[in-house]
Amino acid sequence: MDIHHPADVRYTRIAVILHWLIAALIIFNLSLGLIMEGLHGPVRGFWIPLHMSIGMTVLILTLARICWRLTHRPPALFDGPQWEHLAAHLAHFTIYALMLGLPVTGWAIISAHPPGGPGAPHYFGLFKIPALPVLPFLNSAVQKQAHDTAVSAHTVAGYLMIGLLVLHVLAALKHQFIDRHPQFRRMSL
Ligand code: HEM
Repeated sequence: MDIHHPADVRYTRIAVILHWLIAALIIFNLSLGLIMEGLHGPVRGFWIPLHMSIGMTVLILTLARICWRLTHRPPALFDGPQWEHLAAHLAHFTIYALMLGLPVTGWAIISAHPPGGPGAPHYFGLFKIPALPVLPFLNSAVQKQAHDTAVSAHTVAGYLMIGLLVLHVLAALKHQFIDRHPQFRRMSL
């Protein structure tokens, strides 16, 4: 049997589109997140709601991607040592967890402390992003604590995501150029 038949080594079209769309939106939001702190006034009022809207879109697309993943078996990993397969599964699982965790902690920040004025949480200017349950109704001291915890979690998740993305790209480059597996073809249309 030819185990490198293209049908065996490629992700489906839907999975490939979701992979690159989510990757682009996350990289954009990570970069924006890192410079957002230094922004003020109307510039801040433009970029922060955009950050929130893109983050909420990542959440929706990630839920779609997880539905795909649970209903389709991805192509098998290439041959390699067992530790490498274990590391790949662990990294992929953690990236999925962060793809959910980053938007949810961001959503918790604005639910515990909705910014007003031009930085108000609107989804691409179309409608107000609803608050998560409970958080808007806490007494103010607990609410402030919840807000600060969500900001810390969001920040730590952001740096973890940057670290894992670097590892993920290095691993893909290693498979392509050192092990000489057709790694890039798996995730191309
Ligand atoms: C792909 C999803 C997301 C990524 C990668 C991301 C990434 C980041 C990063 C890296 C920061 C800077 C953290 C720091 O330096 O302390 C940040 C800040 C922030 N994010 Fe997100 N974020 C995402 C989704 C969201 C969502 C969905 C919301 C709200 C609906 C949100 C709201 C915020 C807010 C309000 C801040 C400023 C926090 C502060 O007060 O310091 N984020 N984000």
